[in-house]
Amino acid sequence: MTKTNMANKNKEILKIAIIIGSTRPGRFGDKPAKWIYEEAKRTDGVEAELLDLRDYPMPFYAEDHSFSMNPAVSDQTAEKWQAKIGAADAFVIVTPEYNHGPSAVLKNALDYAYREWNDKPVAFVAYGSVGGARAVEQLRLVAIELQMAPIRNAVHIPAPWFLVDGKGDLKPNALDPFKDAAKNMLEQLVRWGRVMKR
Ligand SMILES: Cc1cc2nc3c(=O)[nH]c(=O)nc-3n(C[C@H](O)[C@H](O)[C@H](O)COP(=O)(O)O)c2cc1C
Repeated sequence: MTKTNMANKNKEILKIAIIIGSTRPGRFGDKPAKWIYEEAKRTDGVEAELLDLRDYPMPFYAEDHSFSMNPAVSDQTAEKWQAKIGAADAFVIVTPEYNHGPSAVLKNALDYAYREWNDKPVAFVAYGSVGGARAVEQLRLVAIELQMAPIRNAVHIPAPWFLVDGKGDLKPNALDPFKDAAKNMLEQLVRWGRVMKR
């Protein structure tokens, strides 16, 4: 490949899917998800998309096989979910921490694809009393089994309940202190995304 071809290849659009890992009423998760979506959209060479698990109401895993052995899928929503995952080059998972782990709905969504996750990097935006760190550590292990590359840089938002007002809306500029972390995370995700796509 010539140097020019290589440079053009490096400029290819990287599709980043941002996944909201909570579906419960009154959730906090959509706030940091929309925020990181805006940050990702501003990143050079990136096309960002927000995936809300509320739009993919899949059953608890109900196939008679594992997708690592057999890609056949019977649930129509899961099929749409797999197509979305397959179309993305890299992921940001926005995760809560429930009892020191990720939410069940997020783990189920991870289980509901396999090949579509393979060979792609994933970064995490997490929140909770200790910034969702314990959920992220578990998710990194799951990501490795899905043959993904969980990247090191992440955004950890401690005590998110202090960032919303009485109506549950994000207070003005509440996520500004995390902008540097977001930038570092996205830079690393894009770097890994480009290499893995190539
Ligand atoms: C079932 C459940 C378990 C929780 N467990 C933890 C926990 O282990 N650690 C923590 O920091 N926060 C925990 N929390 C508080 C969450 O961090 C907080 O409710 C957060 O807003 C949840 O994310 P969501 O609103 O996007 O669903 C828990 C909340 C729920 C509903």
